[in-house]
Amino acid sequence: MKRIIVAVDGPAGTGKSSVSRQAALEMGLRYIDSGAVYRSITWYVLQRDKKMNGEFRFTNDIAELTIEQEFLRDGCCKTFVNKIEVSDFIRDETITKNIGILSDNRDVRDFVNRLLRRWSREGSVIMDGRDIASVVFPHADVKIYLDASIETRTQRRMKEYREMGKNVDENVVKKEIIQRDEQDRNRPFGALIRSDDAVYVDTSLLSREEAVERMKEIIQRTVSPIDSGLCRMRPYGQRYP
Ligand code: CDP
Repeated sequence: MKRIIVAVDGPAGTGKSSVSRQAALEMGLRYIDSGAVYRSITWYVLQRDKKMNGEFRFTNDIAELTIEQEFLRDGCCKTFVNKIEVSDFIRDETITKNIGILSDNRDVRDFVNRLLRRWSREGSVIMDGRDIASVVFPHADVKIYLDASIETRTQRRMKEYREMGKNVDENVVKKEIIQRDEQDRNRPFGALIRSDDAVYVDTSLLSREEAVERMKEIIQRTVSPIDSGLCRMRPYGQRYP
């Protein structure tokens, strides 16, 4: 049975994970959240060391971590570290603040990439992340680069803040987005690159539902109907070994 790999990347705030997750759900593919894997390792290191002071060494205990991810029928993606569910813990602000130290480390990236490639062999997948199409799966069956204007991403972020009840200055949010783009494009390893063979989708004027439809169309167009039919039959809810 043919397995397919759909690799989705693009800057932060373009809806990569929510659009990929929904498309995966509707097409019967498995969604893999690569960012959650980096977050999980950061969570583990913070638990172990209590704080990070800019110095980080890839030690044997990290190489031996058991990281698992489960994609559920309701679209929820759960992540486990050594059998502990960390899905909520890894969304904490302290993780976001410290993750760069780890995601810039070559050994961490090699470790995560091996894990992601192993997971992709278990079934048909949609995976999103900064370097998924360029480094992790340069031969992915489908590559999609999601983009959106700075203005749109600022407005989306402002809406999220408002929903959280936070009052934030729009100019500060915009500056942060510009800065994050700059950092992501200039990372020493796993920088954000738009692959020549990726289908470019500008979501600035699309609703989430329209972006999902667009992604599904691209996948269906690229993968033959017979193959995508087979993909739909893959079961959900299995945890990756
Ligand atoms: O939405 P955001 O990109 O902030 O979060 P995420 O997808 O949960 O990823 C968390 C962090 O891991 C971000 O800083 C990403 O740049 C980084 N990451 C990475 O370096 N490589 C990946 N394949 C996925 C995420």
